[in-house]
Amino acid sequence: MCGIVGHLGPQNSVDVVLEGLKRLEYRGYDSAGVSFISSDNNLKIYKKKGKIQNLIDELADKEIHARSSIGHTRWATHGGVTDNNAHPHVCEDMGIAMVHNGIIENAGELREFLIGEGVKFKSETDSETFLGLLIYNVKQGKEIKEAVIESFKKIEGFSAFVVLNKETSEIFSIKNGAPLVCGMNEVNSEVLVSSDPYALAGIANKIYFPEDQVLCHLSAGNANLLNFYELDGSKSTRYISKSQSMDHNPAEKGEFEHFMLKEIYEQPELIRSLTQFYFQGEGKESLEQAVDLPRTNLHVTACGTAYYAGLVIKDFFEQINRIPCRPEVASEFRYRDPILNKDDLALFISQSGETADTLAAQELCKKTGMKTLSIVNTEGSTLFRDCNVNLLIRAGMEIGVASTKAFTQQVLTGRTLSAVIANGGMDDNLKNSLATKYSLLAERIEELLERSDEIRTVAGEIYRKQGFFYTGRGVYFPIALEGALKLKEIAYVHAEGYAAGELKHGPIALIDEEKVNVALVGPELYEKTVSNIQEIKARKGIIVVVGPQGKKDLEEIADYYIPINFDGLEELSPLYINVVNQLLAYHIAKFLGTDIDKPRNLAKSVTVE
Ligand code: AGP
Repeated sequence: MCGIVGHLGPQNSVDVVLEGLKRLEYRGYDSAGVSFISSDNNLKIYKKKGKIQNLIDELADKEIHARSSIGHTRWATHGGVTDNNAHPHVCEDMGIAMVHNGIIENAGELREFLIGEGVKFKSETDSETFLGLLIYNVKQGKEIKEAVIESFKKIEGFSAFVVLNKETSEIFSIKNGAPLVCGMNEVNSEVLVSSDPYALAGIANKIYFPEDQVLCHLSAGNANLLNFYELDGSKSTRYISKSQSMDHNPAEKGEFEHFMLKEIYEQPELIRSLTQFYFQGEGKESLEQAVDLPRTNLHVTACGTAYYAGLVIKDFFEQINRIPCRPEVASEFRYRDPILNKDDLALFISQSGETADTLAAQELCKKTGMKTLSIVNTEGSTLFRDCNVNLLIRAGMEIGVASTKAFTQQVLTGRTLSAVIANGGMDDNLKNSLATKYSLLAERIEELLERSDEIRTVAGEIYRKQGFFYTGRGVYFPIALEGALKLKEIAYVHAEGYAAGELKHGPIALIDEEKVNVALVGPELYEKTVSNIQEIKARKGIIVVVGPQGKKDLEEIADYYIPINFDGLEELSPLYINVVNQLLAYHIAKFLGTDIDKPRNLAKSVTVE
């Protein structure tokens, strides 16, 4: 969805902002723009629909030396995809430019009021009403800082705003319920603001996560480059700060053609480090706190891939801990008036920690007085700040829109919690047994990654087929759902995940020689799953079996057989099979030539309903 980058400092600000916007491309957008104060002290603005490259091309022959700049990638909600509707929105006369993420819910009535006050609008966007408010407040005699605060107070809905003021070269930012992060490099006297910490990686050595309704003030040339204020103008301490390593730049794909592939290959290493983090490292305290939370019932709420991770986690909690577990997609949960009790535990799973529906569901649970727990990747995200306890999944930055390594780490984090609860606490024996298990999983995944070409060959045979049914039973059912999601989002092919026994209750009507059944077969319920495959085979469906190695019947029934070694993996085997699905989706998408890291219509973090 929309992305924001602002920069103030000695190096050419426009270059920093454009580089930041390029990093945010993965979030999905349809136009881009930048505004800056030129060396002859003019407020300049350039915006273009389409790719950021269009904007870069437009700027290519201009001599630009700017010390402060703001930029934006827009994902249209109000008003069509046009140059004019792109951000920044600017009032040249007053020397003010602004960008906005989110939705201004009362834009209609504000616009009417502002038109009545003589404010002129140039775009069809809701965002421009904030500029209108700034113009109105400055005309009323307010200083820019006060104007930003007063304008912000009038806004309804979840939003983040960044404002560039020509006269003072300052940048202001403020948010409510939308992501915003500030960064600083003290050595270079640089300050930054963005909707995503990824834009700051390798530039800022300190990052700050302000809370809602905290005004961030970025200024150059004095001792305090970055200040935080409350809405009454007093200094604020409502922000988290943390140091960030400068040598790690997640923007690099290294030897890999796509971030998605790189992230698939990162999984073994990440899996190995998880027990260390939770039993001896920084995660120990939060895991102990999580174990102490009340949990008569467990409500698991999330979206997309994170929700499917929740379905796997549900199996752990019900089968191993015998805790009743209710998984639900956040967009339904939040409007359903769910039955919630104070002794229940609300678990939210999210890579970004900024998914609007998941945040709204968390808010709902919090209001009932329930304890809220997150399994989350992004430290400092809104979900992270709002939950009572957070279990970090330590997946590192995930850039590919299709979530891969985050799923694996989410499930393993859930497994770790379930194991500690079952064990009645943390001890070395448990640590060692989990570490051995996780290490076996990592080893098996490494073996699978070595077989990527074999999976590519299968992909090459089936990528032109008209539809895919991923099927599985028990613990493999959520993996079937996740496999189908992965394929449709990056390959734009119709795919559905089904419980293997459910196909004959309707969808089997679709089976013919143009449809593929990716059958996920585990050691449990083996015969029953094979019977389900027979039913598809009898209707001429193409069968791809991902199942236990050395099985004659599977070899005979399958058009393509990807044999795997389940031994010793037990309840972690769904994660292992899932990597086959990740590679299969990747190679099919590659054959089809889609934009794998930035699939059409999708955003990495879905910050609107
Ligand atoms: C995953 O491949 C998807 N892009 C999507 O379903 C994602 O998992 C979902 O939007 C939830 O995001 P979150 O984990 O950041 O909350």
